[in-house]
Amino acid sequence: MQPRATLSINPVEYREFQEFLQQACGILLGSGKEYLVSSRLSALLAEQDIDGLGGLLRTLKAPGGQGLKVRVIDAMTTNETFWYRDVSHFELLRQKIFPELEKRPGGAMRIWSAACSSGQEPYNLSMTVEEYLGASRNGYNRSVEILATDISTRMLEQARSGIYCGVAADRGLTSEQSRRFFVPKRDCLEVLPEIRRRVHFRELNLTSSFAVLGRFDVIFCRNVLIYFSHDLKRDIINRMAQVLNPGGYLFLGSTESINQLSDRFEMRVDSGGIAYRLKD
Ligand SMILES: C[S@@+](CC[C@H](N)C(=O)[O-])C[C@H]1O[C@@H](n2cnc3c(N)ncnc32)[C@H](O)[C@@H]1O
Repeated sequence: MQPRATLSINPVEYREFQEFLQQACGILLGSGKEYLVSSRLSALLAEQDIDGLGGLLRTLKAPGGQGLKVRVIDAMTTNETFWYRDVSHFELLRQKIFPELEKRPGGAMRIWSAACSSGQEPYNLSMTVEEYLGASRNGYNRSVEILATDISTRMLEQARSGIYCGVAADRGLTSEQSRRFFVPKRDCLEVLPEIRRRVHFRELNLTSSFAVLGRFDVIFCRNVLIYFSHDLKRDIINRMAQVLNPGGYLFLGSTESINQLSDRFEMRVDSGGIAYRLKD
């Protein structure tokens, strides 16, 4: 394979690109990350016959640059995910939070996976619901809806397909879970229809309004705030508090914390996991 050409990036273009990215999706690109921009954008620039980062910035500003903007954001986001990431979160839900939420009056229980990447997180939520329903002796009387959103159209397309191949079909799954929640499809695994049925995907930039989404009992916002500024993290957490029902739960990634971001939540440590409960 031919080695991919590296972009030569001058400091002015780099600064302008940092501003573009932060404005477009909140991602803070630190100094000295020119190699990252180069490795993630070279193929797209070659495909689009665009000359360097300066040419890209000019094309993005020109009328009709929206399609390219989506591709650039797609290329610049880090989409790493795997099955049952921070498994203690799913245990906490199954053992403690679902039984608690089940007793509440109301229509469907609503869960939001707010940066769902290629779908492992929302499908794991649905699998956890399925396990809970299977074990529930009294019969569960609230239906469950899972909304899964991401800014990356490429990731959403993969997530909607429900089909995982190679490492993505393997990473984090036990063989028992593979047998239970998937059907083999050629060399890949396809998520079972009853697991997929609860999950609805939609494109959403976390910098934009959440008002159209409705209210939730549980929000998973894991491993995405790390890419944002302190102010944007605080803004997102406080807007999430506005769409959570009282006593609802927010889950963050294991390296993320709510400290100094919001005083509307209390920490709950249980079943080996940590969640943040919206104060009543
Ligand atoms: C590292 S993945 C985390 C996936 C999953 N939540 C997990 O913990 O495994 C981060 C995801 O955040 C998404 N993302 C980045 N900026 C975003 C934004 N402004 N709005 C919505 N999603 C965003 C990326 O596209 C990516 O899929």
